[in-house]
Amino acid sequence: MTQMPRNHVGVALTSVALACGLLGAGCARGEAHTDLVGEQLYAACEHCHGVGGEGKVELSAPKLAGLPAWYLTRQLQRFKDGTRGKHPDDEKGLRMRAMARQMMSDREVEAVVAYVAAMPDVEVIPTLPAPDPAAGGADYAACAVCHGEKGEGNESIMAPRIARLNDWYVASQIRKYREGIRGGAEGDDVGATMREMANKAVAPERIDNLAAYIQRLPG
Ligand code: HEC
Ligand code: HEC
Repeated sequence: MTQMPRNHVGVALTSVALACGLLGAGCARGEAHTDLVGEQLYAACEHCHGVGGEGKVELSAPKLAGLPAWYLTRQLQRFKDGTRGKHPDDEKGLRMRAMARQMMSDREVEAVVAYVAAMPDVEVIPTLPAPDPAAGGADYAACAVCHGEKGEGNESIMAPRIARLNDWYVASQIRKYREGIRGGAEGDDVGATMREMANKAVAPERIDNLAAYIQRLPG
């Protein structure tokens, strides 16, 4: 696993070139080419994030299906440049950062993002107790300002879609923002905004309930 990605990409690109040689016409279209490369690049992500982008709780790798391209691109760049996943206490972020750093040129990011963003949304399995909807709704009102009533997100302020994300992942990220493990890096103004919200808008003992509530938002 550790040294697979570089080689893997080399193999992926070679096999795409071969496929293009064989298939000719189909490869004249740039889009088809990107899709194919994206799919092959994603093979290196599957082990952690799942074939359909459904995520794997046992590896702490969240669901990716349903996330928009602009957000995926930004996060992969941030793992690469160390704005995310570099904090010494961010054990899970470090796993992902190693991956993003090994693998990705800007073109590769673009290709794998196109593939992931096209994945159909998948069911999420609750891992936290069913939420108290009244408390969840009350807490979520402060989040809806940026993330939308249905958790659909708002690209113009870089607030991602959070509806139907894994409950355990949302809870873990809120805690990371609170502790500055995410959103605390120098120059991370966007993360700092969210960090402030995580500290102001939700009491620590209500984080799990809010996360369970967010997982059930329609998006
Ligand atoms: C070794 C396991 C592993 C591999 C391989 C891996 N990831 Fe991750 N990924 C993670 C973990 C763990 C996290 C959660 C990090 C955190 O808690 O902050 C993550 C987070 C992410 C996020 C952030 C999601 C969000 O909602 O902000 C994106 C995007 C992502 N991965 C994309 C990818 C892509 C694309 C690939 C393949 C090129 C990949 N990952 C390969 C483990 C992995
Ligand atoms: C002022 C606008 C704003 C408000 C209010 C806000 N957020 Fe955010 N949130 C953001 C932005 C911007 C990001 C992206 C930050 C980054 O890239 O690290 C974000 C990111 C997140 C993420 C990470 C998503 C992922 O896929 O990793 C979660 C979870 C989240 N917010 C939950 C919440 C919750 C819960 C609340 C309410 C308690 C809330 N947010 C309130 C702006 C906001």
